[in-house]
Parts: sequence; C-alpha cells; structure tokens
Amino acid sequence: MNIKEKIRIIEDFPKEGISFKDITTLTDDKDVFKYTIKEIAEDLRDKNIDIIVGPEARGFIIGAPVAYELGAGFVPVRKPGKLPYDTLKIEYQLEYGTDALEIHKDAIKKGQRVAVIDDLLATGGTIQSVAKLVEQLGGEIVSFNFIIELTELKGKEKLSPYRVHSLVKYDL
Ligand code: PRP
Ligand code: MG
Repeated sequence: MNIKEKIRIIEDFPKEGISFKDITTLTDDKDVFKYTIKEIAEDLRDKNIDIIVGPEARGFIIGAPVAYELGAGFVPVRKPGKLPYDTLKIEYQLEYGTDALEIHKDAIKKGQRVAVIDDLLATGGTIQSVAKLVEQLGGEIVSFNFIIELTELKGKEKLSPYRVHSLVKYDL
C-alpha cells in the first residue's frame, strides 16, 4: 500500500512557502488508515511499550489507535488550560514568540516505557518539548514514531540520540 500517494499536498498553506502535508486524505480511507496504524504498531510491537504519548491535535488521531492496537495506555499532551488536573507545563520557542504544552502530573509512572507519536516531524520543536515532559515525570522514551518526516528540517538530528522512525520522508 502506498501511504505517500494518500497524503494530500497543499501548497502555500497555512502561509506562503509552506507545502502542507494533509493526512486527512489518508485517515478518511479505511484501508489506508488501518494499514498506517498497523505499520507503526508493528514497529513498536516487540518493545514492551506501556504508554503512547501524543501531542494535540494530530498526535491524538494517530497515537490513540496505535496505543489500542498495542494494548498500551494513551496519554495526551495538550495546549495550556485544557487538562483539568495538576499539570506539568513546558514553554518552547517558535519562529516568532512562544508556545506551551501540558501533561497531567500523574499520567506517567517512573520507569514506564513510552513511545511518543505524532503525524509529522518538522523542526522537532514540538516533540522535543513532549520528550522533556515525559522525562520529567520519570518515563523512559523508547522511540519517536511519525507518519511523515521532513528531512531538510533536521528534526531527527535534534532528537539524537533517541530512536526516530517514520513511514515516509519528504525533503520539505
Ligand atoms: C504540526 C504537526 C506536529 C508539528 C511538527 O502540529 O502535527 O505536531 O506541527 O512541527 P515541529 O516538528 O516543527 O514542531 P501543529 O502545531 O500544526 O498543530 P496540530 O497538530 O494541532 O494541527
Ligand atoms: Mg501537531
């Protein structure tokens, strides 16, 4: 099955010069969606994963079904003010300004084996922040898994020496 064929490219979205990778044309196809989730789950199958962590919003779409497939728990990382219980918060730099993410303080127990999943690895800024939250809670990061990696942005190098696995790659 050709995953790349199912990803829709929208040029100049959300702003000029960005070649947006739209996964909704992949997830709305029942066969390709199932295949994609199973491919990621197979990569993680023998790694004794306790918890899948996924960042809002597209990380939920991919992370939760992979967790279900593996029989692992799913922990959401959300934009500030969305999680109701005590949270750990991290702020990170964007090109202009800052953004922030939160996780529930009791969501991961010390020593639990975690895979972090998102739809796409670009600069790696989002996922690096997620990783810091997971490690502050005592989780052990086993792998980062993505559908798409934008190789030119060198996110994989930013995440080194962690393991990074993606199903398809684009230059930009
Ligand atoms: C996109 C994408 C990744 C992130 C990758 O999310 O889903 O989470 O950007 O970029 P990075 O590697 O440079 O951090 P976005 O912030 O657009 O939000 P969404 O998932 O809520 O659509
Ligand atoms: Mg995202």
